[in-house]
Amino acid sequence: MLKKIVAITGASSGMGLETAKLMAANNWIVYGGARHIEKIPTASNLHPVKLDVTDTSSNQNFINTIIAEQGHIDVLINSAGYGELGPVEDISMATARQQFETNFFGAAELTKLALPHMRKQHSGRIVNISSVGGDIYSPLGAYYHASKAALQQWSDILDLEVQRFNIRSVIVQPSGTRSTWGPIARQRILQNTNGDSTYTDLVNLMTTTLADNARGMSATTTDLAQVIIAAATDKHPHRRYFNTFHDRLTVFVARALPNLFRRQIQRSITQPKQ
Ligand SMILES: NC(=O)c1ccc[n+]([C@@H]2O[C@H](COP(=O)([O-])OP(=O)(O)OC[C@H]3O[C@@H](n4cnc5c(N)ncnc54)[C@H](OP(=O)(O)O)[C@@H]3O)[C@@H](O)[C@H]2O)c1
Repeated sequence: MLKKIVAITGASSGMGLETAKLMAANNWIVYGGARHIEKIPTASNLHPVKLDVTDTSSNQNFINTIIAEQGHIDVLINSAGYGELGPVEDISMATARQQFETNFFGAAELTKLALPHMRKQHSGRIVNISSVGGDIYSPLGAYYHASKAALQQWSDILDLEVQRFNIRSVIVQPSGTRSTWGPIARQRILQNTNGDSTYTDLVNLMTTTLADNARGMSATTTDLAQVIIAAATDKHPHRRYFNTFHDRLTVFVARALPNLFRRQIQRSITQPKQ
């Protein structure tokens, strides 16, 4: 039987790496892409490819390599991403654009490159790793949350366009998961805040909150890899995948009761936990 081929971005760390290892162990032929290719393990059916999703020629090379070596591509998992956090007034527009280049346009370009092959084979699945933050929000996350909200709308529209070719585009919405995402986001906040910033109180609050959340996090990248694999393989996929019922409920409440959600966030800023 023809082995199934999956392309995974962000395969050098976190949930992308875990998904790559798990799918390779389950007999998939895995192409893992990331800039730090040395962090992607090599195995007979796990192929690391150097990839910067913000670079068109790198994206073309990623998909072309898979097609040249395997002739088809069954699943594309867009996991590459990071949190470019910081106050809207302080963060530079170049930095804000870079967030969209990685979290949104990277996924969009790779999908565009994979689609003609998926259409030709009359099957395919695009799994986009968003966040509960595609629906909920907190201070200093304007560009991160906007990039994930954009990814979700884009995925839903893409899904409408390609379902007739037996291709589906779905979204996974993790919440806080133990990985390098948190430390990178904290670092970005500090880097993106001006020395004389008016927002130092919020910066202190959010960096402390991120550190506290990281200590209390129970979701692991293995948990998320399992959710991602379900999204990649379910015969009749859902539009949205969550790791826990609590994640699903949080998104539901934020959507259904926006004023209540807003008041809760506001309270967490004005009356932070001691
Ligand atoms: N962890 C969480 O709490 C959490 C919660 C909700 C959503 N998410 C989302 O889940 C996805 C995976 O996050 P994670 O937790 O696995 O984070 P992670 O451990 O920091 O991994 C991020 C991955 O993205 C890759 N990446 C970043 N920029 C890239 C670029 N320009 N080109 C190619 N690869 C790039 C990194 O590889 P290189 O640096 O080697 O290129 C790395 O492999 C992200 O989209 C994130 O926003 C995470």
